[in-house]
Amino acid sequence: MENILRGDKITLGTCYYPEHWDKSLWEDDLKRMLSVGIEVIRIAEFAWSKVEYREGEFNFDFFDEFLELAAKVGMKVIFCTPTATPPAWLTDKYPEVLNARQDGVLFRHGARRHYNYNSKKYLELTAIIVEKIAEHYAKHESIIGWQLDNEFNCEHWEFYSESDSLAFRVFLKNKYETLEKLNEAWGTMFWNQIYTSWDEIYVPRTTSFGNNNPHHLLDYKRFISDSVCRYAKLQSDILKKYIKPGDFITTNSIFGNLDCCRMTEESLDFITYDSYPNFGYCLNDFERMKDELNDRKWSINLTEARAISRIFGIMEQQSGSTGNHIGMEGPAPRPGQITLWTMQSIAHGADYISYFRWRTCTMGSEIYWHGILDYSGRDNRRLKEVGDVYKKLQCMKEVAGARFKAEVGIVKDYDNGWDSELDVWHGRIEWSSRMAWFKALEKSHTPFDFCYLDHISQEELNGYKVLVYPHAVILTEEGVNKLKNYVEQGGILLLGCRAGYKDSTGKCVMAKLPGLVSDLCGTDIPEYSYVAPDDAVPYAIWNGKKLPAAIFNDLLAPVNGGKVEAEYEDAYYAGTPALISKETGKGKTYYFGGAFTEETALSFLEGLGVASPYKDVLTLPACCEISVREKDGIKYIFVLNYSKENIEVTLHNELTNLYTGAIEKGEVTLEGYGTKVYRL
Ligand code: GAL
Repeated sequence: MENILRGDKITLGTCYYPEHWDKSLWEDDLKRMLSVGIEVIRIAEFAWSKVEYREGEFNFDFFDEFLELAAKVGMKVIFCTPTATPPAWLTDKYPEVLNARQDGVLFRHGARRHYNYNSKKYLELTAIIVEKIAEHYAKHESIIGWQLDNEFNCEHWEFYSESDSLAFRVFLKNKYETLEKLNEAWGTMFWNQIYTSWDEIYVPRTTSFGNNNPHHLLDYKRFISDSVCRYAKLQSDILKKYIKPGDFITTNSIFGNLDCCRMTEESLDFITYDSYPNFGYCLNDFERMKDELNDRKWSINLTEARAISRIFGIMEQQSGSTGNHIGMEGPAPRPGQITLWTMQSIAHGADYISYFRWRTCTMGSEIYWHGILDYSGRDNRRLKEVGDVYKKLQCMKEVAGARFKAEVGIVKDYDNGWDSELDVWHGRIEWSSRMAWFKALEKSHTPFDFCYLDHISQEELNGYKVLVYPHAVILTEEGVNKLKNYVEQGGILLLGCRAGYKDSTGKCVMAKLPGLVSDLCGTDIPEYSYVAPDDAVPYAIWNGKKLPAAIFNDLLAPVNGGKVEAEYEDAYYAGTPALISKETGKGKTYYFGGAFTEETALSFLEGLGVASPYKDVLTLPACCEISVREKDGIKYIFVLNYSKENIEVTLHNELTNLYTGAIEKGEVTLEGYGTKVYRL
């Protein structure tokens, strides 16, 4: 059986819900999908009751019949475990399986994702349903892979049930062994929060003014992630006993409080991502989300997905208007946008694109979340565009398996990500710098990757010319050793303000800042401050380029071989070093005292010689994205026009247009929302 993500082609799929439609529609639906190039469907992720209508009464007829039809027409299937929507009989009889609000009110039956990952009963019932489904269906010829659950931690990424508190205690006992160590790690002497028994510890509860112990909160986030990872592994361990050789296990992510790298390493063959670029146009959020990037912002999420799996899939690719009864309402994709968003995913490393969903549902909470087809199922513009995408993919099979090419890596780690969600001092610089870097990289046409420091191999890390670790607030010895090795081997590392002031408990260190990287950076930080809101943003001039130092300033001093590169201007500390460098081995580290603005990030990209690596190949306006994938020494350049307007691209070299096979050079017009894929 042919499979996906094998590096031989890019495959199209769709999400299909046989349980939503009269059986008389099935065959025609599947044949019409095949006729436009959709070769895979994902099914059953919410259909528990179609297999176990009442507790212990299993009946496999419904999906047997459907799979028989799939085999007859030649449709391949990704089958799902149905645990995202436990049935009413289950939650009614065993309310301990439910998730709860922080104040203890249970999330009742009637929506979805209302369960918790730690109820012993739910783990037991999960194991039963997964085992029964796998045992019965896994050998079916049409099945090529499996999806676990649906969107772990979507909608809710916090869990407050009694089972969670019990499991949290076990997690903490394993981590700290003794209460003394836990009290020490959480700094419980502050405000007299000392624990004298494990039973006094709960998941974070409602407190007088919400300013809960931050070290407790950080461990709680780690605990939620651990809970999801254990739950995913429970399911995948069962599936592995039954699935056919070559069939894959995946899940559709990426949501909060979850270390997707760990989950993928332990339980999946690759991650899949659900890509809804139309969120960039949602009416209820438009003012908040509005900037020149709109749907282009989804490239940051696709970059995330690629940091987890170098080649990944899109399990749900937007194909229609969005919205449910309570929000997220947005327009239909304009002509060309389905292709644009599909190519955006492929440009970033996706070799499987499955559209959400085949036909728009006529009932329930998602009647506005449109699929390819509207309610009637009649042929429409969007279906035709999917067929056109398929034709394009036939001309670009050679791109499959090609790896995204980037010289710049943005370093991240889950601990710092989670800490920045808990701590406004950290959060303010983190989120601002994240978008500043993204915009500077995108608009200057500089491809980049995210690198998860505690998951990426040293060898892969050392492959980047420049690494930026915007705010390495929490540092560990292992992380620092990895960065040091990178620099010693010739890498250029750039750090922004506030590095190293916390340890992994989230407590502040008493060492001179920037703590564990002081020596690597040749920097001391005798003083620091927020930039006052009524002051101008201080800046430094470095190699003739302006470096605005936004939000927060570390006032630097060189130590141990550090060299002052630039000083603050326009501040009461004008003349104090703002940028210090230090050579170590074959490489160099830069410590910059501020948070990054788009202008600062661009100045660094240019100053460090990594901006716009394809400027000699083609010139194009900032409204276009360039992404490059590479295989066997051949580069594939994706040019994506996110604007409504036609734009001109100048090709300085002869390039082969993969869609047409034509050689192009000189001025080329790309229509509004148009895409091109060139072989270099
Ligand atoms: C996804 C989810 C789908 C569907 C879709 C549209 O997050 O996996 O089941 O709900 O959004 O809302």
